[in-house]
Amino acid sequence: MPRFENTALTRRQMLWLAGGGLASLALVACGGKSETVEPQTVTPEETEVQEPDVVEDVSTEGGPETAGATGKSMVVYFSWSGNTRSMAERIVRASGADVWELVPEEPYPEDYDACTDEALAEQRAGTLRAYQGDVDGWDSVETVFLGYPIWWMDLPQITKAFVADHDWAGKTVVPFCSYYSSGWTGTPETLAETCGGATMLEGIALAQGDLPGALDDIDGWYASLSL
Ligand SMILES: Cc1cc2nc3c(=O)[nH]c(=O)nc-3n(C[C@H](O)[C@H](O)[C@H](O)COP(=O)(O)O)c2cc1C
Repeated sequence: MPRFENTALTRRQMLWLAGGGLASLALVACGGKSETVEPQTVTPEETEVQEPDVVEDVSTEGGPETAGATGKSMVVYFSWSGNTRSMAERIVRASGADVWELVPEEPYPEDYDACTDEALAEQRAGTLRAYQGDVDGWDSVETVFLGYPIWWMDLPQITKAFVADHDWAGKTVVPFCSYYSSGWTGTPETLAETCGGATMLEGIALAQGDLPGALDDIDGWYASLSL
């Protein structure tokens, strides 16, 4: 798993800016040509690449007994650098759900810039990312905690692939995500549209900079779902 120093890079100018009260924006400068994904007043000179802080050594051992949700629950997640995985582990601990990690058939580059380039290219092309294997016993799963990092203001293409491949009718979907600064960027609404026939519950989104401390929010959030 890649590990990064918490330093800002300037080789490629990019900013993941502010969800919550602020508008979201991604601005890329490629080969001197800037492209604004969502128009904002920030100029390329004001932007910088932010590499992810990565939560390390998040143990799920020694926690409380798992509660066990009603019906069969499963945490399905993708994580490139570990932050969403740390959330998944806490949700497993809180819920007693089974867990399944989406692993790309073709791994994403470990280099941050190369990964962002590849992710943007496949998002623009609309190419879905194949993953290894599949969940066991999908038909009997009632509640799916679906986790992902925000990638280019959207779901990663591997998450979209998983959604497209499965029948969501009658399932309860609870999204969770990790992001740098842009927040959900509408991904629960995207899931509501694409997980046909599912009931969506209120998810949890954590900024990477608030990890690992914010993982403690997961227990209260999970309890609030009353599953
Ligand atoms: C390809 C790529 C695209 C990203 N796009 C965004 C974005 O649009 N908004 C944002 O806030 N963070 C963005 N990030 C930062 C990740 O969402 C953040 O680092 C997250 O915590 C990573 O989770 P993970 O460790 O589970 O992969 C991006 C990171 C990568 C690698």
